[in-house]
Amino acid sequence: EKVVLAYSGGLDTSIITAWLKDNYDFDVIAACMNVGQDDDMTQIEEKALKSGAVKVYIEDLIEEFIEDYVYQGIKAGAVYEGKYLLGTSFARPLMAKKLVEIAHKEGAKYICHGCTGKGNDQVRFEVGIASIDPTIKIIAPWRIWDIKSREDAIDYANEKGIEVPVTKEKIYSRDQNLWHISHEGGDLEDLKNEHKSEMYCMTISPEKAKDEASYVEIYFEKGMAKKIDGIELSPVDIVKTLNKIGGENGIGVIDIVENRLVGMKSRGVYETPGGTILYAAHKELEYITLDKDTLQYKQMISLKYAELVYNGLWFTTLKESLDGFINKTQETVTGTVKLKLYKGNIMVAGMESPYALYDEGISSFGASDLYDHKDAEGFINLFSLPSKIKALKF
Ligand code: ARG
Ligand code: SIN
Repeated sequence: EKVVLAYSGGLDTSIITAWLKDNYDFDVIAACMNVGQDDDMTQIEEKALKSGAVKVYIEDLIEEFIEDYVYQGIKAGAVYEGKYLLGTSFARPLMAKKLVEIAHKEGAKYICHGCTGKGNDQVRFEVGIASIDPTIKIIAPWRIWDIKSREDAIDYANEKGIEVPVTKEKIYSRDQNLWHISHEGGDLEDLKNEHKSEMYCMTISPEKAKDEASYVEIYFEKGMAKKIDGIELSPVDIVKTLNKIGGENGIGVIDIVENRLVGMKSRGVYETPGGTILYAAHKELEYITLDKDTLQYKQMISLKYAELVYNGLWFTTLKESLDGFINKTQETVTGTVKLKLYKGNIMVAGMESPYALYDEGISSFGASDLYDHKDAEGFINLFSLPSKIKALKF
């Protein structure tokens, strides 16, 4: 029998490889997903083979991740609980899809992952897999085995001759891709503790940020960022470029206590430097290009969309139907937004769009043909009628 293992190269998934062989006599196919994390993929491949995998897939997913998942999230304006830009959540359905593809190629009936039994990621992987091929069986070692701590894990690794990374004690549970990095656990578990900026990987603290503001100009076409400072770039390069500018200016850190799908609140610190800039610019452009009803209705859709993404419901009819709505709204979200970045802050510094509904002539305080001040009187009379009736009666 074959099992496809979502392999990260960390201690946990290395142990899982050995554990799968011991307990199930499986041939382990390690699937490594490159979504832009800071890891050396050839090193991970070697590690996977050393820990007992019979075959290794290195899946280059950065482009698909940014273009089909992250960019759709930007168009949707999806923000979970008002803060989280869904960096981990966007990646999981794509990984689930790839795991199923590999399972099919290999004729494997099992997929295994290293998520704990307490988090969101297990749900996202398994819901994603089930929506594509519900016949695939899941193995989630963290919900089965006796290994309960890092010490247990190290003991098991030593027993099996698996190399234990000599790096200093792993403080945080982290998840990284090109869009973001998350930090959870350790001293963050006590809400009284201010998070330490030393943990940052993609950005810096405002204190260390440059003393001069940076300006950046982003051009969007139908809601998708296409150019930075007039230069056309691929979606991946847009995110990379903005990560750099955002990082230098201390942009994109949130410290959040969020509601996990499995019922508990958990605290995390997430860095999304480029993403925070992109979301901000996109939102500003919508303010000038979407009509009032569409803009306000879309705000409700964004909330639902974020919830679906967070909960791993990417491959669902509802999510795809909302995409239909979102893509329609984006037809006129074209134009340029200039932002000023300064010590963790983002400020608008100018906008332009051929589809802007804002009209200086109409909005200005001077006279215009379309708007007659006298019309306002009748409008207010009718608009206030329910209020008048109520005040007269009670
Ligand atoms: N709490 C965030 C989320 O649910 C981040 C999860 C990070 N995942 C991880 N395996 N460290 O999306
Ligand atoms: C995990 O528990 O595996 C990571 C955190 C999460 O999935 O929410």
